[in-house]
Amino acid sequence: MMRRREFVRNGAVGAAALLLARTARLASAVASSMADSRIEVLLGEGLGTISPNIYGHFLEHIGGVIYDGVWVGEDSKVPNINGVRKDLIDEMRKIKAPVVRYPGGCFADSYDWRDGVGPTDTRPRRTNFWIEGDSSASPANHRYESNRFGTDEFMRFCKAIGCEPYLAANVRSLPGQEFYRWVEYCNSPAGSTTLADARAASGSAEPYDVRYWGVGNESWGCGGNFTAQEYAVEFRRYTSWLPQYGKPLALIASGPNSDDWQWTREFFEEIARKDKDLFGSIFGWALHYYSWNLSRGRTEDWDEGKGDALKFDAQDWYEVLREGNRLESLIEGHWQAMREFDSGHEVKLVVDEWGPWYRPGSQLTPGNFLEQTPTLRDAVFSAMTLDIFNRHPEKVTMASPAQLVNCLNSLYLAHEDKFCVTPVGHVFGMYTAHQGGQAVRTIISAPMVNYVRDGKPASFWGLNGSASLHGKDLVLTVVNPHVSETRETEIAVRGAAIRSGTTSVLTHSDLHAHNTFDQRNEVVPLVKELQSTGRMVTLQAPPASITKLVLTLS
Ligand code: AHR
Repeated sequence: MMRRREFVRNGAVGAAALLLARTARLASAVASSMADSRIEVLLGEGLGTISPNIYGHFLEHIGGVIYDGVWVGEDSKVPNINGVRKDLIDEMRKIKAPVVRYPGGCFADSYDWRDGVGPTDTRPRRTNFWIEGDSSASPANHRYESNRFGTDEFMRFCKAIGCEPYLAANVRSLPGQEFYRWVEYCNSPAGSTTLADARAASGSAEPYDVRYWGVGNESWGCGGNFTAQEYAVEFRRYTSWLPQYGKPLALIASGPNSDDWQWTREFFEEIARKDKDLFGSIFGWALHYYSWNLSRGRTEDWDEGKGDALKFDAQDWYEVLREGNRLESLIEGHWQAMREFDSGHEVKLVVDEWGPWYRPGSQLTPGNFLEQTPTLRDAVFSAMTLDIFNRHPEKVTMASPAQLVNCLNSLYLAHEDKFCVTPVGHVFGMYTAHQGGQAVRTIISAPMVNYVRDGKPASFWGLNGSASLHGKDLVLTVVNPHVSETRETEIAVRGAAIRSGTTSVLTHSDLHAHNTFDQRNEVVPLVKELQSTGRMVTLQAPPASITKLVLTLS
């Protein structure tokens, strides 16, 4: 029988008491003890370089993502930089956001990039792709696209953060020539073309040098309802002879949804049928995977299968993690299918939409379509996902959760002058340390989580994580998914001694804990110095927690 912890939230146990309890748990993090788990870090077994771009982000003109989330306007009382919410820029700089995908999502295949450039007072108003999803509580600018935020505003946003732009081109409803022209607008040298002059008139004589270009989005669905074979033909047509201006473009093809192996096989087969050399010009294959079905096999219905973001029991806690954990086998499966045609693996995986997707109702700002409030469960889910990417650096080159702000698995929630970092945002803050490191193999042994799933015994792994080396520093992240048990874990680094270190722990005594505009710091990481060092350290990984250790080796 599973031991259930008490679900307390804002109840008898106040924030101060919770903090004390957490501190006490951490204080004993290094006490010598009866370990039930072990992590061995094998420094000699490198897996590859962790691409910083797997810590990327995604923005779409949907609900309150752009208008309110990102864009507040230059004349707003909300602190802003060129109209973009300053809090957002500050936070994204802290997490070293490397790349941001824009303007969708499904919106991208309905978008005419020309609507969003030029003098702002003459930009047309259009019906937003997502109008049917919006409710009467949604502000008009969510339903009718003002185009106030377009390519130039996005580029200024990227520049302020210090990240690279990743633009998704419209393959469903614009001709290939418009893709060519958008590249020309963004990248042609100063003064060279009419579009370069138009760009200069909008504030940037110098090219934006956009390297990453998505060729449509979900082309099996909202992006055109193509078959994989049809899409491969379109892909070839849209990407033949794009202007490069001396800097090769990184083209990202619209890949599968979840476990649609057929989509992967048929696309690769069709590309190979014409010319295998084309694989060399495809940078990425975009896999989308949402964890939405918590029905445990009862239904495949998109609405009925979903669970609640805030109200859940331990069974649903594990169900979300089980669903999320499938991503590792999806990465391995698609990678294998790709190899059947692209034997040298020239094309890498880009997981540019991931995260849990719950039923509507938890949004902090009513009327924000698709917004949900991330809890500790989503933080654990996100850490688990980032660890998966870290463990497959040779396969996954870029990734982004859906979506950055006011959406599904958001790092930030914002409304007017209110802003908070979600537990997911804090996970990204902790995992920044992995960017660019050399991933090394870990061997993790821990008791399985045993619990009851619809009256039957079920299990889930007991501990998981990833490690990366940065010169003398080892970054190790560890997820304990158990809702009530601490994992006392010996950590050994094979081939080095541990001189010093710090631990950061993100957890809470309430599984449902989350941050809001009023309680912005309910779930925040706690950082401590490591007390004991040597060949081995012992970590007490609290229940429902994410721990990051940064160990200086000698
Ligand atoms: O992230 C929300 C939507 O989910 C995106 O627009 C689409 O690509 C996906 O189906």
